[in-house]
Amino acid sequence: MLANDRVAIITGAGRGVGAAVGQELSRQGARVVLCDIEQALAEQVAAGIRADGGAALALGNDIAAPAEADRLVRATLEHYGRLDILVNNAAVCPRISIDDMTEAAYDQIMNVNLKSVFFLSRAAGNAMKANRWGRIVNVSSIGGRTGGIFNATVYSASKAGVMSMTKAFARHFAPHNILVNCVAPGSVNTRLMENLSEAALQATIDQVALKRLADPAEVARVIAFLASDEASYVTGITMDVNGGALMV
Ligand SMILES: NC(=O)c1ccc[n+]([C@@H]2O[C@H](COP(=O)([O-])OP(=O)(O)OC[C@H]3O[C@@H](n4cnc5c(N)ncnc54)[C@H](O)[C@@H]3O)[C@@H](O)[C@H]2O)c1
Repeated sequence: MLANDRVAIITGAGRGVGAAVGQELSRQGARVVLCDIEQALAEQVAAGIRADGGAALALGNDIAAPAEADRLVRATLEHYGRLDILVNNAAVCPRISIDDMTEAAYDQIMNVNLKSVFFLSRAAGNAMKANRWGRIVNVSSIGGRTGGIFNATVYSASKAGVMSMTKAFARHFAPHNILVNCVAPGSVNTRLMENLSEAALQATIDQVALKRLADPAEVARVIAFLASDEASYVTGITMDVNGGALMV
C-alpha cells in the first residue's frame, strides 16, 4: 500500500497499462494525474476513479515535446500541491521494418519513448526533492533486452535506452531519497499488441512459459510496488514482468 496522500503522474494513462496503473495507485490511496495525448480517454479513466471515491485529474499533454514535461509537473503542483511518484508509461510501437523506416518515424518513436523519459524524470525529480521522498518508475519492454522481433527495431532500442537511463537517474536522485526503477513487461493484452498479425501473436504467446498474455493489472501491481514505501532499498533496477518469456 502507498502512504496517504501520495500524488502520482502517470503518462499514457488513457488506456492499457497506464490506465491500470492509475486505477491501482488510486486504489492504494494515491491522488493521480492521468496524462494522455488523447485527453478524452484520460478523462474517462479519471471519471471512473472519481466514481470509486478517488481523486484524479486528466491532462492532455503530448510528452514527446520536452516543454510539456515542465507544464505537466507545474499543473500537478498547482492542482495537488506536491508530487511524489512519476510513472513514465506512454510509448508508441508502430511495426515498421528496417527497410521501411523513415527519419520522421524514427524521431517520433525516440521522442515519445525515450526523450520524454529524460525530460519528465528531470522535471518531476526536481519537484520531488522538496519532500525528500520520490519514486520514478519507467516502463521499458522485453524488446529492450531482445532487440525486438516483429519489426520493432527502433522501439526496442528506445526501450534499451529507458533501462540505461533508469540507472543514471537512480544515481542522480539517490541523495534526495528519490528511487528510480524500471519494469520490462513481456506481452500485455493492450492495443499495442493489436498491430501484430495473428501468427505473430501466437508465436509470441508460444514463447511465454505461462502461455498467455499479461493482463495490464498484473503489470500495474508491480509498478505500484516499486512506487511504494516497501521498495525503499530498491533503485536502478529493471524488473522483468514477462510470464517467463525471457529468463536472464
Ligand atoms: N502491450 C505490450 O505488450 C507491452 C509490452 C512491453 C512493454 N509495453 C510498454 O507498456 C507501456 C504501455 O503500453 P500499452 O500496451 O498500454 O500501450 P497502449 O497503446 O495501449 O497505450 C499507450 C497510451 O499512451 C498514449 N500516448 C502515446 N503517445 C503519447 C504522447 N506523445 N503523449 C502522451 N500520451 C501518449 C496513447 O494515447 C495511449 O493511450 C508502454 O511503455 C509500452 O512500450 C507494452
